[in-house]
Amino acid sequence: MVVSTSILSIRENIEQKLEQLNQTDTDYIHLDVMDGKFVKNQTRDYVPLKNHIKKPIDLHLMVEDVPTYLEHYQQMHPEIVTFHVEVNTNVEKLIHRIKEKKMKVGISLKPSTPVTFLFPYLEEIDLILVMSVGPGAGGQMFLPFVVSKIELLKRIREERGYHYLIEVDGGINAETKKFCKEADILVSGSFITNQEDYQKQIDQLR
Ligand code: DX5
Ligand code: ZN
Repeated sequence: MVVSTSILSIRENIEQKLEQLNQTDTDYIHLDVMDGKFVKNQTRDYVPLKNHIKKPIDLHLMVEDVPTYLEHYQQMHPEIVTFHVEVNTNVEKLIHRIKEKKMKVGISLKPSTPVTFLFPYLEEIDLILVMSVGPGAGGQMFLPFVVSKIELLKRIREERGYHYLIEVDGGINAETKKFCKEADILVSGSFITNQEDYQKQIDQLR
């Protein structure tokens, strides 16, 4: 299983903890960007941490104004840029903007948003991020009802020959990962970064 480590729950010594994360075999570092509009919380600017991140970046934009954040974060060269289908913007345009920048494009959906909202875009996107908690905070409980979405998306991919990866994000730990066998990438934050030995936690998710 591919693992993407969210650093949202790291509160202090972030540079040192990123160094520690660079020493693990995490496949990605997942950066959660919140604007205080799309979600209540607001996150720090991650750009000053650029030189401390030695893993591919998986950028999760929980923001209304996607183009502005995309312009800002492109200097970190994220491998994947994911935005929410619930934003009040032309989704098609956003997909093209990200593709123009030669980044992989992901679309995320909140737990309450049905998979049908993604149907117009399935052919052209590289990743679907299925949220398994309400967006906005780390350390929440996994919502089991999203499992059927993961399974449905996998079935559709097989039937229609689409190429998107399925990523699941929120409340993932050694127990809840068992419900996500059909996913390709697990995002996990507090389960990894609230412990001393990050690698030991990552090993439990593999
Ligand atoms: C929630 C974020 C998630 C989350 C992951 O809004 O998108 O990435 O923080 O952290 P844990 O694993 O603690 O739920
Ligand atoms: Zn996230």
